[in-house]
Amino acid sequence: MLSARTAVLHMHEYHPPLAGRTGLRLDFNENTEGCSPLVLARVRNITAEELARYPEREPVEALVAAHLAIPAEQVLLTNGVDEAIHLLCEAHLEPSDEAMVVTPTFSMYEIFAEATGAKVVRVQCGADLQFPFEQVLRSITPATRVIAVASPNNPTGGVASREQLLAIAQGAPDAAVLVDEAYYEFHGTTVLSDVVRHPNLFVARTFSKAYGLAGLRIGILAGPHEQMRMVRRVSSPYSVNAVALAALPVALEDVEFVTGYVAQVKAGRERLERELTQAGLQWWPSQANFVLLRIGERHHGFVAAMRQRGILVRDRSADPGCDGCVRITLGTTAHTDRLLGVLREVLSELKLGAEVKA
Ligand SMILES: Cc1ncc(COP(=O)(O)O)c(C=O)c1O
Repeated sequence: MLSARTAVLHMHEYHPPLAGRTGLRLDFNENTEGCSPLVLARVRNITAEELARYPEREPVEALVAAHLAIPAEQVLLTNGVDEAIHLLCEAHLEPSDEAMVVTPTFSMYEIFAEATGAKVVRVQCGADLQFPFEQVLRSITPATRVIAVASPNNPTGGVASREQLLAIAQGAPDAAVLVDEAYYEFHGTTVLSDVVRHPNLFVARTFSKAYGLAGLRIGILAGPHEQMRMVRRVSSPYSVNAVALAALPVALEDVEFVTGYVAQVKAGRERLERELTQAGLQWWPSQANFVLLRIGERHHGFVAAMRQRGILVRDRSADPGCDGCVRITLGTTAHTDRLLGVLREVLSELKLGAEVKA
């Protein structure tokens, strides 16, 4: 009888709650406004000819590389950061190897690493959910081949410093060190220029968050030239579709759209953090477009009450170290106004802040 590989048989299924998402989407860290109107206009103008041809990635890769000020050989456009993670695992992991992740974090690192049969080594953050730099360094072994660090991290919003990330890359010369900068625009700090000097450092970026293009599935993997040649070997030349390739140059050009949106998110983040402090709830400082907070035992009730009032937020209490936690995405100023109004109502109805404080 047909059987999947042993590693696949042992994997957990991952089903993000994508069904029935009607309401204000503060559950997946997407752009709450949509994308740039200029991008939408370009997508509406796609021709039949453009759709009939196989997509040509290289010219857009050259444009993205120029935008990032790195050589084109170091840039691969991918079907979202998800594909970048998949390719790095495919290119580097044997079943006898180890892949390191810092938990709690984005699920896809573990999924793609597990699928290769490699052992996943989880380094858990402490109660402060700060990046556990020393433990990461101590957990590197001769078998470590991939280390994935999201900075800012999801769902905590915390970051690893440039010095820490470079020290990890130096401390694990036989590992592909992936710095996932999916939330870069909300933080503004990057190690992208360091990929030139570090033979094992990779950086991933996405257009799913600040740019509002999650549905198009487009991201970037940047890394050392020699290593990127290996990664290209395991990638499909057609994984980024023609619509995404047509939209990307326009998205990069509309700087105003992204900077305006990011400014609104950052202001909203501060407002939400102030509100949570006033309510006496525990929350973690975030450099991303979301905040993680601890609701406590009634996290299900909280998420349901928010949904009833038309706002979707994400229950993260199953994440390691996140008991009773919920993650709330920030969006436009108008969306933050609405969020804070509903949040006050729900906290008061469920008597939540007081319960946590007591
Ligand atoms: C840290 C992190 N990396 C990557 C992704 C996914 O990016 P993409 O949509 O480009 O696959 C997410 C989405 O939530 C994320 O939180």
